[in-house]
Amino acid sequence: MSALGKVSRFAGASIGGGPSFIATAVGGSMTMSEDRNRLSDALAMFAMAAVAAAGLTIVFETVEPAMMFHGALFALGAVLFIVFMMSYKGTRDAGSDFTDGPIRLAVVASIFWGIAGFLVGDILAWQLAMPALNFDLPWISFGRLRPLHTSAVIFAFGGNVLLATSFYVVQRTCHARLAGRWAPWFVVWGYNLFICIAGTGYLLGITQGKEYAEPEWYADLWLTIVWVTYLLVFLGTLWKRKEPHIYVANWFYLAFIVTVAMLHLVNNAAVPVSFVGSKSYIVYSGVQDAMTQWWYGHNAVGFFLTAGFLGIMYYFIPKRIERPVYSYRLSIVHFWTLIFLYIWAGPHHLHYTALPDWAQTLGMTFSIMLWMPSWGGMINGLMSLAGAWDKLRTDPVVRLLVVSVAFYGMSTFEGPMMSIKAVNSLSHYTDWGIGHVHSGSLGWVAMVSFGAIYCLVPWLWNRRGLYSLKLVEWHFWTATIGILLYITAMWVSGITQGLMWRAYDKLGFLQYSFIETVEAMKPYYVIRAIGGLLFITGALIMAYNVWRTIRGDEIRDLADQPRVAAAPALRLQPAE
Ligand code: HEM
Ligand code: HEM
Repeated sequence: MSALGKVSRFAGASIGGGPSFIATAVGGSMTMSEDRNRLSDALAMFAMAAVAAAGLTIVFETVEPAMMFHGALFALGAVLFIVFMMSYKGTRDAGSDFTDGPIRLAVVASIFWGIAGFLVGDILAWQLAMPALNFDLPWISFGRLRPLHTSAVIFAFGGNVLLATSFYVVQRTCHARLAGRWAPWFVVWGYNLFICIAGTGYLLGITQGKEYAEPEWYADLWLTIVWVTYLLVFLGTLWKRKEPHIYVANWFYLAFIVTVAMLHLVNNAAVPVSFVGSKSYIVYSGVQDAMTQWWYGHNAVGFFLTAGFLGIMYYFIPKRIERPVYSYRLSIVHFWTLIFLYIWAGPHHLHYTALPDWAQTLGMTFSIMLWMPSWGGMINGLMSLAGAWDKLRTDPVVRLLVVSVAFYGMSTFEGPMMSIKAVNSLSHYTDWGIGHVHSGSLGWVAMVSFGAIYCLVPWLWNRRGLYSLKLVEWHFWTATIGILLYITAMWVSGITQGLMWRAYDKLGFLQYSFIETVEAMKPYYVIRAIGGLLFITGALIMAYNVWRTIRGDEIRDLADQPRVAAAPALRLQPAE
């Protein structure tokens, strides 16, 4: 073999392969890219050794058992990453133009965390119907499991779906490999380590008490490092792109990444009591703290649960139905109006509080205006199917994606309505809010995620299709019926609650005691919990289907699957 051939073969292997010091031993001569690889291997090893050392310092210095446990988790995580780097061969991605390993990891993690999070949600639902199920054990009490549920579903399930899809989409639409050698792996691995630290912390009683931002200062710092790396990988990939245009899905992903970084940094500004203790104090106080928290909270909805998932909608719907998006111009208008309006709407979470009245009215006004861009996006998603509506009947994956957009439209109509002060005076503190949350999160976030996962698995594992499309059909119906039971039960219970709380008798006394309103909720709570069980059943069906697909088992209904279900290299051309 010529010297040039040797070098290029070696360079090809080292792009996706394991540490270059292993490769050098095999390949011999050194190239520029090899030099760079050696440097990044050394830096990655050094950084991980530093994380392990910091973890061990916490273990030996702290007096809190829970903190000691977290120090050990950091150290263990770092050691595992070092072992992974040393043993990684990268053979799967070596022949490909893309770095897909971290994406596969994020897909599997999202399914795992999704099922765990749904399960905890359903335990909460049963605990609300039957409080004895708390078993008087602090670790599984409602108060500790609730943030475990919200973090598991939003950040662990939703977050891994966003990592997986954003890394997939940015590479395909830019025709460029992910920037960084270990950085994409670090992002997925580091993010999941953060989830483990946060989740175990809640069960052990560690929380800073801010909704959707419960993890304490050291977990927040770790997430900051991971998130900045994520931003750099994403920007670096855009920078390297071979396609001049930046497709709109990437705009949504980038807005999600940048805004979440900003929200996280501002809302979590805190002073720790000790560097080896878990407790810290937030720098804000009083109503400023409340306003910062809900500026964060609402934009977590707007940018984590909405903008990122709109990125999914704009890539996966057109891809799956093999048609362009309905109006590209509308998607740009959708993008700019959505990000401009969302950021001002937070005060609708603080109606009738100490927040100045003008700020509440401002929040309400921007929330009502938000209805328009949201529906612009929904129309764009739905109308992309114009002329291909039959796919709704023939392909349950399209149905999952499209029904999710319909739920997006429903919750973004309901939200602006609930932000009107007069309506909020009835809905606030009631289960109506919980119904709204789950029509957005189960109907929109989870369903669009399921659709994307079903697309991604055969594409990433190089299969001709999913193991069974029929099972997707089953998943679709169990999940949809589960969601409908959940949200209708919550609408009825929420409005009943609100009306009972404000009912007065002839003498002007409250007509119902609080416990009477709690008793009236019982049937709805049982219906919601049954809806949750159905939803989990659907997710288990998905896990089974995905597992059989990854194993490469014979496909049950290949003839029924659309051409696009197969990995790109295995797709039949129309004439074949
Ligand atoms: C099987 C599925 C699920 C069940 C049974 C379930 C159940 C519950 C329950 C019982 C609560 C507490 C309600 C209360 O405090 O009164 C809750 C809260 C919450 N859940 Fe779920 N959930 C599920 C899935 C999800 C998913 C997929 C998401 C997001 C992607 C989600 C997001 C939330 C949020 C944000 C809250 C807090 C709501 C608030 O404070 O207003 N849930 N869930
Ligand atoms: C135009 C869009 C939307 C507007 C204007 C909006 C508005 C609102 C309002 C007014 C509340 C009740 C606040 C309260 O009384 O405490 C609320 C709660 C909530 N919404 Fe929305 N919403 C929108 C879309 C969505 C979507 C798409 C999702 C989920 C994917 C979502 C998730 C939530 C969550 C998690 C809460 C509960 C926050 C908490 O109290 O813990 N919203 N939203």
